[in-house]
Amino acid sequence: MKIAIDGPAGAGKSTIARKVAAGLGYLYIDTGAMYRALTYHVLAQGLDPLDEEQVKSALDTLNLRLETASSEGINRVFLGAQEITEQIREPQVSQNVSAVSSHLSVRKAMVGLQKGLAKNGNVVMDGRDIGTAVMPDADLKIYLNASVEERAKRRQKELLARGVNVSLKELIEQISHRDFLDSTRKISPLCKADDAIEIDTTHLTVDQVVELVLTLVSRREKSV
Ligand code: DC
Repeated sequence: MKIAIDGPAGAGKSTIARKVAAGLGYLYIDTGAMYRALTYHVLAQGLDPLDEEQVKSALDTLNLRLETASSEGINRVFLGAQEITEQIREPQVSQNVSAVSSHLSVRKAMVGLQKGLAKNGNVVMDGRDIGTAVMPDADLKIYLNASVEERAKRRQKELLARGVNVSLKELIEQISHRDFLDSTRKISPLCKADDAIEIDTTHLTVDQVVELVLTLVSRREKSV
């Protein structure tokens, strides 16, 4: 089966997708990490995230590799031999990733790579355009959502655990801005596929959402 999980920043996509994949023994692919890795590469070279030509040159030299850490199932991210799993979560990357991921050449390259990774099935992929552009043929499409306040609180907790202290107000502004950019860009914007099932995770625990998704998967399996 192919399972697509889309939704805005901080809705819990990565955590849920990773746990669902682990529960099913499927491959997990964090497509946001791929756009973040490119953004890290753009910034590390002093290039302008808004300039498509410059971003394209970074794309040409991108030596990206995702590895699944067997212990937690997270995608470890490498540029050549350098591991950048932690660095791609830094605020500077978060603030520039929407600009980098809005360019046509970037979308074409990444969607192409992601389609290749998904082609053998038994995959859970999370992102913004998985159910619409990357796996329009997915067997199950989930759209995860939560209030912006709740999403900011979750991001704050995540950052604090890594020793980064950002105010809630600032995070609400950053997340709202990223939602706006991601959902209004011209090419494959963040949007719920017509056949996606929407889950509002504001008042649900991670385990409740995972259980719900696994129930939907087994219902889908029975109907195939
Ligand atoms: O899920 P995330 O916050 O790690 O994603 C980072 C950014 O990457 C997000 O703001 C928009 C972009 N992205 C995208 O355009 N398409 C995807 N399939 C996944 C992420």
